[in-house]
Amino acid sequence: MFVFVLLPIAGFVVGRIGRSLKKQTNKAQVKWGEILSQMEETLTGLRIIKGFNAEQKVKKQFYGLIDDIFGIKNRISYRRDLASPISEFLGVTILSGVLWFGGNLVLNGDILSPGSFITYVALFSQIINPAKALSQAVYNVNRGTATLDRLNEILEAPVTVNDIANPMQLNEFKESISFENVGFSYQDDSILHNINLTVKKGKLVALVGSSGAGKSTLADLVPRFHDVSEGQLLIDGINIKNYSLHSLRKQISIVTQEPILFNDTIAANIALGKPEATEDEIIAAAKIANAYDFIIKKEGGFNSTIGDRGSKLSGGERQRLTIARAVLKNPPILILDEATSALDTESEKLVQDAINNMMQNRTSIVIAHRLSTIRHADEIIVMQKGKIVERGNHETLLAQNGYYQKLIEMQEVK
Ligand SMILES: Nc1ncnc2c1ncn2[C@@H]1O[C@H](COP(=O)(O)OP(=O)(O)OP(=O)(O)O)[C@@H](O)[C@H]1O
Ligand SMILES: [Mg+2]
Repeated sequence: MFVFVLLPIAGFVVGRIGRSLKKQTNKAQVKWGEILSQMEETLTGLRIIKGFNAEQKVKKQFYGLIDDIFGIKNRISYRRDLASPISEFLGVTILSGVLWFGGNLVLNGDILSPGSFITYVALFSQIINPAKALSQAVYNVNRGTATLDRLNEILEAPVTVNDIANPMQLNEFKESISFENVGFSYQDDSILHNINLTVKKGKLVALVGSSGAGKSTLADLVPRFHDVSEGQLLIDGINIKNYSLHSLRKQISIVTQEPILFNDTIAANIALGKPEATEDEIIAAAKIANAYDFIIKKEGGFNSTIGDRGSKLSGGERQRLTIARAVLKNPPILILDEATSALDTESEKLVQDAINNMMQNRTSIVIAHRLSTIRHADEIIVMQKGKIVERGNHETLLAQNGYYQKLIEMQEVK
Protein backbone atom coordinates (compact mmCIF):
# COMPACT_ATOMS: atom_id res chain seq x y z
CA MET A 1 0.00 0.00 0.00
CA PHE A 2 2.52 2.43 1.36
CA VAL A 3 4.91 1.55 -1.46
CA PHE A 4 2.25 2.22 -4.06
CA VAL A 5 1.74 5.75 -2.71
CA LEU A 6 5.42 6.60 -2.37
CA LEU A 7 6.67 5.31 -5.71
CA PRO A 8 4.62 7.69 -7.90
CA ILE A 9 5.62 10.60 -5.63
CA ALA A 10 9.28 9.65 -6.09
CA GLY A 11 8.76 9.38 -9.84
CA PHE A 12 7.11 12.80 -9.95
CA VAL A 13 9.90 14.50 -7.98
CA VAL A 14 12.61 12.95 -10.15
CA GLY A 15 10.71 13.92 -13.31
CA ARG A 16 10.34 17.56 -12.15
CA ILE A 17 14.04 17.89 -11.40
CA GLY A 18 14.87 16.32 -14.76
CA ARG A 19 12.64 18.72 -16.71
CA SER A 20 13.95 21.80 -14.98
CA LEU A 21 17.50 20.57 -15.58
CA LYS A 22 16.66 20.34 -19.27
CA LYS A 23 15.35 23.92 -19.32
CA GLN A 24 18.48 25.28 -17.64
CA THR A 25 20.77 23.29 -19.94
CA ASN A 26 18.96 24.75 -22.93
CA LYS A 27 19.43 28.29 -21.57
CA ALA A 28 23.12 27.65 -20.91
CA GLN A 29 23.65 26.57 -24.50
CA VAL A 30 21.99 29.70 -25.86
CA LYS A 31 24.22 31.86 -23.62
CA TRP A 32 27.36 30.05 -24.74
CA GLY A 33 26.41 30.81 -28.33
CA GLU A 34 26.04 34.51 -27.45
CA ILE A 35 29.40 34.55 -25.68
CA LEU A 36 31.18 32.95 -28.63
CA SER A 37 29.67 35.35 -31.14
CA GLN A 38 30.48 38.34 -28.95
CA MET A 39 34.05 37.14 -28.60
CA GLU A 40 34.37 36.86 -32.35
CA GLU A 41 32.90 40.31 -32.93
CA THR A 42 35.13 41.82 -30.26
CA LEU A 43 38.29 40.30 -31.63
CA THR A 44 37.60 41.21 -35.24
CA GLY A 45 36.42 44.70 -34.33
CA LEU A 46 39.13 45.39 -31.80
CA ARG A 47 40.55 48.33 -33.69
CA ILE A 48 37.15 50.01 -33.94
CA ILE A 49 36.37 49.31 -30.29
CA LYS A 50 39.63 50.91 -29.20
CA GLY A 51 39.32 53.73 -31.69
CA PHE A 52 35.89 54.66 -30.37
CA ASN A 53 36.94 54.21 -26.73
CA ALA A 54 34.23 51.60 -26.36
CA GLU A 55 36.26 49.15 -24.26
CA GLN A 56 34.17 49.76 -21.14
CA LYS A 57 30.90 49.15 -22.95
CA VAL A 58 32.12 45.90 -24.52
CA LYS A 59 33.63 44.79 -21.23
CA LYS A 60 30.34 45.39 -19.44
CA GLN A 61 28.42 43.43 -22.06
CA PHE A 62 30.87 40.58 -21.78
CA TYR A 63 30.81 40.46 -17.98
CA GLY A 64 27.01 40.56 -18.12
CA LEU A 65 27.00 37.44 -20.29
CA ILE A 66 29.52 35.71 -18.03
CA ASP A 67 27.35 36.53 -14.99
CA ASP A 68 24.31 35.09 -16.70
CA ILE A 69 26.09 31.89 -17.57
CA PHE A 70 27.44 31.50 -14.03
CA GLY A 71 23.90 31.92 -12.71
CA ILE A 72 22.62 29.20 -15.01
CA LYS A 73 25.53 26.87 -14.26
CA ASN A 74 24.83 27.32 -10.53
CA ARG A 75 21.19 26.47 -11.01
CA ILE A 76 22.16 23.37 -13.00
CA SER A 77 24.62 22.20 -10.30
CA TYR A 78 22.06 22.93 -7.59
CA ARG A 79 19.51 20.69 -9.25
CA ARG A 80 22.03 17.96 -9.99
CA ASP A 81 23.35 18.02 -6.42
CA LEU A 82 19.81 18.04 -5.09
CA ALA A 83 18.82 15.06 -7.18
CA SER A 84 21.18 12.58 -5.53
CA PRO A 85 20.24 13.22 -1.85
CA ILE A 86 16.57 13.27 -2.80
CA SER A 87 16.76 9.90 -4.47
CA GLU A 88 18.75 8.49 -1.48
CA PHE A 89 16.21 9.96 0.92
CA LEU A 90 13.25 8.56 -1.01
CA GLY A 91 14.95 5.13 -1.17
CA VAL A 92 15.53 5.07 2.58
CA THR A 93 11.97 6.28 3.31
CA ILE A 94 10.44 3.61 1.13
CA LEU A 95 12.60 0.90 2.72
CA SER A 96 11.67 2.08 6.24
CA GLY A 97 8.03 2.11 5.23
CA VAL A 98 8.29 -1.43 3.94
CA LEU A 99 10.03 -2.59 7.14
CA TRP A 100 7.47 -0.89 9.36
CA PHE A 101 4.45 -2.11 7.39
CA GLY A 102 5.80 -5.70 6.93
CA GLY A 103 6.95 -5.85 10.57
CA ASN A 104 3.43 -4.98 11.67
CA LEU A 105 2.01 -7.71 9.49
CA VAL A 106 4.43 -10.27 11.02
CA LEU A 107 4.00 -9.22 14.64
CA ASN A 108 0.25 -8.58 14.78
CA GLY A 109 -1.72 -11.45 13.55
CA ASP A 110 0.39 -13.93 11.68
CA ILE A 111 -0.64 -12.57 8.26
CA LEU A 112 2.93 -12.88 7.02
CA SER A 113 5.46 -15.50 8.13
CA PRO A 114 8.87 -14.12 9.27
CA GLY A 115 10.60 -16.24 6.60
CA SER A 116 8.64 -14.80 3.65
CA PHE A 117 9.01 -11.27 5.10
CA ILE A 118 12.80 -11.58 5.14
CA THR A 119 12.74 -12.98 1.60
CA TYR A 120 10.59 -10.02 0.56
CA VAL A 121 12.90 -7.47 2.16
CA ALA A 122 15.95 -9.09 0.58
CA LEU A 123 14.31 -8.98 -2.84
CA PHE A 124 13.09 -5.40 -2.35
CA SER A 125 16.54 -4.12 -1.37
CA GLN A 126 17.79 -5.52 -4.66
CA ILE A 127 15.35 -3.24 -6.49
CA ILE A 128 16.55 -0.04 -4.80
CA ASN A 129 19.82 0.26 -6.75
CA PRO A 130 18.37 -0.28 -10.22
CA ALA A 131 15.62 2.20 -9.33
CA LYS A 132 18.23 4.82 -8.39
CA ALA A 133 20.11 4.14 -11.60
CA LEU A 134 16.84 4.71 -13.43
CA SER A 135 16.41 8.14 -11.88
CA GLN A 136 19.99 9.01 -12.86
CA ALA A 137 19.14 7.92 -16.38
CA VAL A 138 16.18 10.31 -16.38
CA TYR A 139 18.47 13.33 -15.80
CA ASN A 140 20.92 12.18 -18.40
CA VAL A 141 18.22 11.67 -20.97
CA ASN A 142 16.85 15.13 -20.22
CA ARG A 143 20.26 16.72 -20.59
CA GLY A 144 20.78 14.85 -23.86
CA THR A 145 17.41 15.88 -25.28
CA ALA A 146 18.14 19.53 -24.43
CA THR A 147 21.24 19.33 -26.64
CA LEU A 148 19.32 17.49 -29.32
CA ASP A 149 16.58 20.15 -29.31
CA ARG A 150 19.15 22.87 -29.96
CA LEU A 151 20.78 20.86 -32.75
CA ASN A 152 17.40 20.22 -34.33
CA GLU A 153 16.62 23.92 -34.25
CA ILE A 154 19.68 24.50 -36.43
CA LEU A 155 19.34 21.44 -38.64
CA GLU A 156 15.66 21.96 -39.29
CA ALA A 157 15.82 25.72 -39.92
CA PRO A 158 14.05 26.27 -43.22
CA VAL A 159 16.40 26.47 -46.19
CA THR A 160 15.15 29.28 -48.35
CA VAL A 161 17.14 28.47 -51.46
CA ASN A 162 17.14 24.87 -52.52
CA ASP A 163 17.60 22.57 -55.49
CA ILE A 164 14.42 21.34 -57.15
CA ALA A 165 14.03 17.59 -57.55
CA ASN A 166 16.10 16.42 -60.55
CA PRO A 167 17.66 19.79 -61.40
CA MET A 168 19.25 20.52 -64.78
CA GLN A 169 23.01 21.06 -65.01
CA LEU A 170 24.22 24.39 -66.34
CA ASN A 171 27.35 23.15 -68.09
CA GLU A 172 27.99 26.09 -70.34
CA PHE A 173 26.80 29.67 -70.43
CA LYS A 174 25.80 30.37 -74.03
CA GLU A 175 23.60 33.42 -74.52
CA SER A 176 22.29 35.69 -71.82
CA ILE A 177 21.13 36.43 -68.30
CA SER A 178 17.67 38.02 -68.24
CA PHE A 179 15.65 39.56 -65.46
CA GLU A 180 11.94 39.59 -66.32
CA ASN A 181 9.75 41.80 -64.13
CA VAL A 182 11.84 40.80 -61.13
CA GLY A 183 10.81 41.98 -57.68
CA PHE A 184 12.43 41.14 -54.37
CA SER A 185 11.45 41.65 -50.74
CA TYR A 186 13.05 40.82 -47.40
CA GLN A 187 10.05 39.58 -45.43
CA ASP A 188 7.79 42.62 -45.78
CA ASP A 189 10.40 45.12 -46.96
CA SER A 190 10.07 45.48 -50.68
CA ILE A 191 13.57 46.17 -52.06
CA LEU A 192 13.46 45.67 -55.85
CA HIS A 193 10.58 46.44 -58.20
CA ASN A 194 9.89 45.47 -61.75
CA ILE A 195 13.47 44.94 -62.94
CA ASN A 196 13.83 44.15 -66.64
CA LEU A 197 17.38 43.64 -67.79
CA THR A 198 19.25 41.44 -70.21
CA VAL A 199 22.97 40.85 -70.04
CA LYS A 200 24.22 39.31 -73.29
CA LYS A 201 27.18 36.98 -73.30
CA GLY A 202 30.49 38.84 -73.46
CA LYS A 203 28.98 42.20 -72.48
CA LEU A 204 29.70 44.41 -69.52
CA VAL A 205 26.70 45.81 -67.69
CA ALA A 206 27.26 48.31 -64.90
CA LEU A 207 24.90 49.07 -62.04
CA VAL A 208 25.16 52.50 -60.49
CA GLY A 209 23.01 54.48 -58.09
CA SER A 210 22.97 55.80 -54.57
CA SER A 211 23.70 53.73 -51.50
CA GLY A 212 20.82 51.44 -50.56
CA ALA A 213 19.34 51.52 -54.07
CA GLY A 214 19.43 47.72 -54.25
CA LYS A 215 22.46 47.11 -56.46
CA SER A 216 24.08 44.41 -54.30
CA THR A 217 20.69 42.78 -53.76
CA LEU A 218 20.10 42.64 -57.52
CA ALA A 219 23.51 41.08 -58.15
CA ASP A 220 22.97 38.53 -55.35
CA LEU A 221 19.96 37.13 -57.19
CA VAL A 222 22.12 35.68 -60.00
CA PRO A 223 24.05 33.14 -57.86
CA ARG A 224 20.75 32.62 -55.96
CA PHE A 225 21.90 33.98 -52.61
CA HIS A 226 18.24 34.97 -52.52
CA ASP A 227 15.43 33.87 -54.77
CA VAL A 228 13.34 36.43 -56.63
CA SER A 229 9.99 37.20 -54.98
CA GLU A 230 8.26 38.17 -58.24
CA GLY A 231 8.97 37.65 -61.91
CA GLN A 232 11.76 35.39 -63.05
CA LEU A 233 15.47 35.28 -63.68
CA LEU A 234 16.60 33.28 -66.71
CA ILE A 235 19.96 32.05 -67.91
CA ASP A 236 19.92 30.96 -71.57
CA GLY A 237 16.14 31.15 -71.51
CA ILE A 238 15.65 28.80 -68.56
CA ASN A 239 14.58 29.86 -65.07
CA ILE A 240 17.67 29.56 -62.86
CA LYS A 241 15.65 27.67 -60.24
CA ASN A 242 15.74 24.71 -62.64
CA TYR A 243 19.53 24.48 -62.55
CA SER A 244 21.37 22.79 -59.70
CA LEU A 245 22.85 25.39 -57.35
CA HIS A 246 26.27 23.81 -57.68
CA SER A 247 26.36 23.95 -61.47
CA LEU A 248 24.93 27.50 -61.47
CA ARG A 249 27.51 28.84 -59.04
CA LYS A 250 30.28 27.06 -60.91
CA GLN A 251 29.67 29.45 -63.81
CA ILE A 252 30.02 32.55 -61.66
CA SER A 253 32.84 34.31 -59.82
CA ILE A 254 31.94 36.91 -57.28
CA VAL A 255 34.09 39.66 -55.88
CA THR A 256 32.10 41.07 -52.98
CA GLN A 257 31.95 44.58 -51.60
CA GLU A 258 33.79 43.45 -48.43
CA PRO A 259 36.88 41.39 -49.29
CA ILE A 260 36.25 38.08 -47.53
CA LEU A 261 39.48 36.32 -46.65
CA PHE A 262 40.30 33.52 -44.26
CA ASN A 263 43.10 33.15 -41.74
CA ASP A 264 45.17 30.89 -43.96
CA THR A 265 48.02 31.18 -46.46
CA ILE A 266 47.84 33.49 -49.47
CA ALA A 267 47.88 30.48 -51.80
CA ALA A 268 44.97 28.80 -49.97
CA ASN A 269 42.92 32.00 -50.10
CA ILE A 270 43.45 32.34 -53.84
CA ALA A 271 42.66 28.66 -54.47
CA LEU A 272 39.39 28.74 -52.50
CA GLY A 273 37.22 28.03 -55.54
CA LYS A 274 39.65 25.58 -57.10
CA PRO A 275 41.48 23.58 -54.41
CA GLU A 276 43.23 21.39 -56.98
CA ALA A 277 44.94 24.38 -58.63
CA THR A 278 48.67 23.99 -59.32
CA GLU A 279 51.25 26.45 -58.08
CA ASP A 280 51.72 27.80 -61.61
CA GLU A 281 48.00 28.47 -61.95
CA ILE A 282 47.95 30.32 -58.64
CA ILE A 283 50.93 32.43 -59.69
CA ALA A 284 49.33 33.20 -63.06
CA ALA A 285 46.10 34.33 -61.36
CA ALA A 286 48.06 36.50 -58.93
CA LYS A 287 49.84 38.15 -61.88
CA ILE A 288 46.57 38.97 -63.66
CA ALA A 289 45.24 40.44 -60.42
CA ASN A 290 48.34 42.62 -59.97
CA ALA A 291 49.00 40.83 -56.70
CA TYR A 292 52.16 38.92 -57.61
CA ASP A 293 54.60 41.69 -56.74
CA PHE A 294 53.35 42.33 -53.22
CA ILE A 295 53.00 38.60 -52.50
CA ILE A 296 56.62 37.72 -53.29
CA LYS A 297 57.80 40.64 -51.16
CA LYS A 298 56.18 38.99 -48.10
CA GLU A 299 58.46 36.84 -46.03
CA GLY A 300 56.78 33.52 -46.75
CA GLY A 301 55.64 34.48 -50.26
CA PHE A 302 52.57 32.51 -51.30
CA ASN A 303 52.79 30.51 -48.08
CA SER A 304 52.65 33.45 -45.70
CA THR A 305 49.51 33.67 -43.59
CA ILE A 306 47.37 36.76 -43.84
CA GLY A 307 45.86 36.96 -40.35
CA ASP A 308 42.22 37.07 -39.35
CA ARG A 309 40.19 38.27 -42.33
CA GLY A 310 43.40 39.36 -43.99
CA SER A 311 44.34 41.79 -41.21
CA LYS A 312 48.03 41.64 -42.18
CA LEU A 313 47.27 43.09 -45.63
CA SER A 314 46.39 46.56 -46.84
CA GLY A 315 42.92 47.28 -48.21
CA GLY A 316 44.10 47.29 -51.82
CA GLU A 317 46.09 44.08 -51.30
CA ARG A 318 43.03 42.38 -49.89
CA GLN A 319 40.97 43.41 -52.89
CA ARG A 320 43.59 42.15 -55.30
CA LEU A 321 43.67 38.77 -53.52
CA THR A 322 39.91 38.40 -53.91
CA ILE A 323 40.30 39.32 -57.58
CA ALA A 324 43.03 36.68 -58.00
CA ARG A 325 40.64 34.18 -56.45
CA ALA A 326 37.93 35.07 -58.97
CA VAL A 327 40.42 34.88 -61.84
CA LEU A 328 41.64 31.42 -60.83
CA LYS A 329 38.12 30.02 -60.78
CA ASN A 330 37.89 31.23 -64.37
CA PRO A 331 34.13 31.15 -64.92
CA PRO A 332 32.29 32.79 -67.82
CA ILE A 333 30.20 35.09 -65.60
CA LEU A 334 31.70 37.67 -63.31
CA ILE A 335 29.93 39.67 -60.65
CA LEU A 336 31.94 42.47 -59.20
CA ASP A 337 30.64 44.52 -56.29
CA GLU A 338 33.20 47.25 -56.17
CA ALA A 339 34.52 48.07 -52.75
CA THR A 340 33.55 51.49 -51.48
CA SER A 341 36.68 51.90 -49.41
CA ALA A 342 38.78 54.71 -50.74
CA LEU A 343 42.11 53.57 -52.11
CA ASP A 344 44.97 55.88 -52.89
CA THR A 345 45.41 56.66 -56.57
CA GLU A 346 48.22 54.21 -57.06
CA SER A 347 46.56 51.19 -55.53
CA GLU A 348 43.27 52.21 -57.14
CA LYS A 349 45.00 52.03 -60.49
CA LEU A 350 46.49 48.62 -59.63
CA VAL A 351 43.07 47.32 -58.59
CA GLN A 352 41.41 48.82 -61.64
CA ASP A 353 43.95 47.29 -64.01
CA ALA A 354 43.43 43.97 -62.25
CA ILE A 355 39.69 44.28 -62.78
CA ASN A 356 40.12 45.17 -66.45
CA ASN A 357 42.42 42.18 -66.96
CA MET A 358 39.92 39.92 -65.30
CA MET A 359 36.93 41.13 -67.29
CA GLN A 360 38.42 40.33 -70.68
CA ASN A 361 36.33 37.81 -72.62
CA ARG A 362 33.79 37.49 -69.86
CA THR A 363 30.23 38.46 -69.16
CA SER A 364 30.32 40.92 -66.31
CA ILE A 365 27.90 42.64 -64.00
CA VAL A 366 29.81 45.38 -62.26
CA ILE A 367 28.51 47.49 -59.43
CA ALA A 368 30.53 50.64 -59.57
CA HIS A 369 30.93 53.44 -57.09
CA ARG A 370 33.73 55.14 -58.98
CA LEU A 371 32.00 56.00 -62.22
CA SER A 372 35.30 56.44 -64.04
CA THR A 373 35.66 52.67 -63.94
CA ILE A 374 32.59 51.90 -66.03
CA ARG A 375 32.67 54.59 -68.73
CA HIS A 376 33.22 51.94 -71.39
CA ALA A 377 30.42 49.60 -70.17
CA ASP A 378 28.06 48.29 -72.86
CA GLU A 379 25.07 49.32 -70.78
CA ILE A 380 24.85 51.39 -67.63
CA ILE A 381 21.82 50.84 -65.41
CA VAL A 382 21.00 53.63 -63.01
CA MET A 383 19.04 52.47 -59.97
CA GLN A 384 17.11 54.50 -57.46
CA LYS A 385 15.08 53.03 -54.56
CA GLY A 386 14.90 49.57 -56.10
CA LYS A 387 13.88 50.70 -59.57
CA ILE A 388 15.74 51.20 -62.82
CA VAL A 389 15.40 54.90 -63.55
CA GLU A 390 17.78 55.35 -66.48
CA ARG A 391 19.71 53.10 -68.84
CA GLY A 392 22.06 53.57 -71.74
CA ASN A 393 25.76 54.05 -72.35
CA HIS A 394 27.91 56.78 -70.90
CA GLU A 395 27.29 59.28 -73.72
CA THR A 396 23.54 58.80 -74.08
CA LEU A 397 23.08 59.00 -70.30
CA LEU A 398 25.09 62.18 -70.05
CA ALA A 399 22.98 63.67 -72.80
CA GLN A 400 19.79 62.87 -70.84
CA ASN A 401 20.92 65.24 -68.13
CA GLY A 402 19.29 63.16 -65.40
CA TYR A 403 20.40 61.04 -62.42
CA TYR A 404 23.56 59.78 -64.11
CA GLN A 405 24.61 63.29 -64.99
CA LYS A 406 24.10 64.28 -61.33
CA LEU A 407 26.11 61.30 -60.05
CA ILE A 408 28.98 62.24 -62.36
CA GLU A 409 28.88 65.85 -61.24
CA MET A 410 28.99 64.84 -57.57
CA GLN A 411 32.09 62.74 -58.17
CA GLU A 412 33.81 65.47 -60.14
CA VAL A 413 33.31 67.93 -57.30
CA LYS A 414 35.12 65.49 -55.01
N1 LIG B 1 19.17 41.29 -44.79
C1 LIG B 1 18.43 42.39 -45.03
N2 LIG B 1 17.22 42.52 -44.47
C2 LIG B 1 16.46 43.62 -44.71
N3 LIG B 1 16.83 44.63 -45.52
C3 LIG B 1 18.02 44.55 -46.11
C4 LIG B 1 18.89 43.43 -45.90
N4 LIG B 1 20.02 43.62 -46.65
C5 LIG B 1 19.87 44.80 -47.26
N5 LIG B 1 18.68 45.37 -46.96
C6 LIG B 1 18.16 46.64 -47.46
O1 LIG B 1 18.01 46.54 -48.86
C7 LIG B 1 18.27 47.80 -49.49
C8 LIG B 1 19.21 47.60 -50.65
O2 LIG B 1 20.48 47.19 -50.14
P1 LIG B 1 21.71 46.90 -51.10
O3 LIG B 1 22.78 46.29 -50.28
O4 LIG B 1 21.24 46.15 -52.29
O5 LIG B 1 22.10 48.38 -51.52
P2 LIG B 1 23.27 48.85 -52.49
O6 LIG B 1 22.63 49.54 -53.64
O7 LIG B 1 24.19 47.74 -52.77
O8 LIG B 1 24.00 49.95 -51.59
P3 LIG B 1 25.59 50.29 -51.47
O9 LIG B 1 25.91 51.17 -52.62
O10 LIG B 1 25.67 51.06 -50.18
O11 LIG B 1 26.33 49.02 -51.43
C9 LIG B 1 18.80 48.72 -48.40
O12 LIG B 1 17.76 49.61 -48.07
C10 LIG B 1 19.11 47.79 -47.24
O13 LIG B 1 18.86 48.44 -46.04
MG1 LIG C 1 26.10 47.24 -52.16
